[in-house]
Amino acid sequence: MSDVKSSGLDGIVFADTAISDVDGERGRLVIAGSDVEQLAAEGGFESAATRVLAAGGWDPGPDLRTALATARAQAWEMLPRLGDALQATDGMDALRAALAHLRSTGDDAADAVAAIGAAPVFVAAWSRKRSGAAPVAPDAKLDHAADYLRMTIGKPPTLDASRALDAYLVTVIDHGMNASTFAARVVTSTASDLISAVVAAVGALKGPLHGGAPGPVLDMLDAIGEPSRAEQWLLGELAAGRRIMGMGHRIYRVRDPRAAVLETAVKSLASERLALARGVEAAAAKILAERRPDRPLAANVEFYTAVLLDAVGLPREQFSSTFAVGRIAGWSAHVLEQRRTGRLVRPQSKYVGPMPAAPSPTTA
Ligand code: COA
Repeated sequence: MSDVKSSGLDGIVFADTAISDVDGERGRLVIAGSDVEQLAAEGGFESAATRVLAAGGWDPGPDLRTALATARAQAWEMLPRLGDALQATDGMDALRAALAHLRSTGDDAADAVAAIGAAPVFVAAWSRKRSGAAPVAPDAKLDHAADYLRMTIGKPPTLDASRALDAYLVTVIDHGMNASTFAARVVTSTASDLISAVVAAVGALKGPLHGGAPGPVLDMLDAIGEPSRAEQWLLGELAAGRRIMGMGHRIYRVRDPRAAVLETAVKSLASERLALARGVEAAAAKILAERRPDRPLAANVEFYTAVLLDAVGLPREQFSSTFAVGRIAGWSAHVLEQRRTGRLVRPQSKYVGPMPAAPSPTTA
């Protein structure tokens, strides 16, 4: 057994992948051959999803948009059969329980389309139920982002809002071997099915150290209120032993490139919070640099996710599950790739508990 141990598996290369590459030193994210900035500017969740799925090993062809519209309609038909899944207080609990109702066909491609199509329908229905409104049926004429937003807010979204949400879904579509993607790949490695892998990934994404930070980022901006109060408020958080949400990253040692992409996308939305967010980010970066000159801690994707998703009209309780609506395409691509190229994931642990007493020589 090797003595190499890393409780966070830092620096361990677990797989070769053609889906995405995170360069944490330079702050560069490449997704299926394009820089994230370029992919987001080109727009089109369907087109980005086609590319990541093809990189994973299954090319959905030129019409993923129609396939996803059909999958959204099928998910809508399932709503009455979801039991109490959508009654959950937490949006990620609701999404996990609802996705678990999808039947695995054993065909990863079909299951991927079903899961990617179902996620926005389930999340939007959960969101409307919790605010006491009736769920809104999908519209096959709309693209994935616009339809998700319409199903949530109950009316046709503005072009700027649906474009910004589309840019968000593209920006978060995949990101190397993060915890939820790893969880999906571990499940797949046992020869289990794609739906099970995606359900596991939702569980991993729920935590605030991964995808659960944007709601708390918005809470932080609300609590600070104006940039001049940022420094004092942030120092109070650190003094209380809490972390600054939306700051820091396991891989990036510079600002997360997705923060810039989302900050740009927010500009078209005239968000009242953008100036505040920039002020808070600057204050947080300064304070953290003074405290930890050895450990660069800059804004991560969640910082401007909070501002963008709020500006398009999504409630903060829906932020993490909206992350999943985009990332589910990346998870699916990793399931496809793991199936083709991976093997059973089975690391080792070092036992540090008590050993049974040695058998006595007379009884041995
Ligand atoms: N605020 C204050 N201190 C932070 C911090 C933050 N946001 N992020 C990291 N640190 C500090 C830690 O307290 C730790 O200090 P210590 O060595 O004195 O204990 C040091 O930086 C290293 O942290 P570590 O937990 O080893 O880094 P990590 O790679 O495991 O953590 C994150 C990465 C993202 C989990 C971490 O930066 C974090 O918790 N950020 C806030 C939550 C967040 O934004 N999550 C979304 C991630 S996309």
